Amino acid sequence: MLVNGKDITVHVNGVSICYDDLGTGRTPLIFIHGFPFDKSMWNKQFDFFKEKQRVLTYDIRGFGKSTSNQEDAGMALYADDLVKMLDALQIQKVIACGLSMGGYILLDAVSRYPERFEAIVLSDTQCIADSPEGKEKRFKTIEMIQAEGLNNFAEGFVKNVFCAESLENKKDEVEKIKKVVLDTPKETVISALMALANRNERCTDLSNIDIPTLILCGKEDKITPPAQSEFMHGKIANSKITIIEGAAHLSNIEQHEKFNASMKEFISGLSK
Ligand code: MLT
Repeated sequence: MLVNGKDITVHVNGVSICYDDLGTGRTPLIFIHGFPFDKSMWNKQFDFFKEKQRVLTYDIRGFGKSTSNQEDAGMALYADDLVKMLDALQIQKVIACGLSMGGYILLDAVSRYPERFEAIVLSDTQCIADSPEGKEKRFKTIEMIQAEGLNNFAEGFVKNVFCAESLENKKDEVEKIKKVVLDTPKETVISALMALANRNERCTDLSNIDIPTLILCGKEDKITPPAQSEFMHGKIANSKITIIEGAAHLSNIEQHEKFNASMKEFISGLSK
């Protein structure tokens, strides 16, 4: 039986995926969170869009309240989980928004299952793979986490994802995100770091994307800088781009009103 609500569990691809699903009407809108967060990072989008249409957020395997198994994580596995979840919920097509790692997952899913997407939103993300130095940094981070746990990692990570103004004036949001990072199982963080280091580039696929695409990026994003968004915009014919002032990597949290307004305008402009 299909139910609407919060913290619902569905068994797909060998794991339990926890999701929220509210609202009715129109093609469902689904949000894919970044690393190492959970579906709560989309609270401001979920509450806004559920008044207008059906909205889903979910915890990627191992994160939040979703379980993991022994399989090696990878963008393709995460993307398969997403599509199998849509199958289980009998949803044929979605408008999907992915932030950062959520965007990597979405680019993988769109290249293999284009028929499942009416439109996409690529937020604070990029199509490139890790450079050799980037991979090395991930491996060093894994060693650090194995040796001493998540505390230092969480502290450093949070400083990198918010802009200075948010760190100063949005302390509640900063603390909430830090808690999410600290609550994530160490094993999940490590396996996702491996998955990020091993991910394939998706830039060569971008010219095949022919559905409406919105690209959003915080102007001060240091992890996936605006130049990466501009690059994707140049490759995806049917794309629009908005660079969000007063935000870094977590533009949906740091400037949620601007983020939501931009998405709302994009969705209103779609044909159905
Ligand atoms: C994310 O926010 O998902 C990650 O920072 C992405 C990355 O490290 O490449």
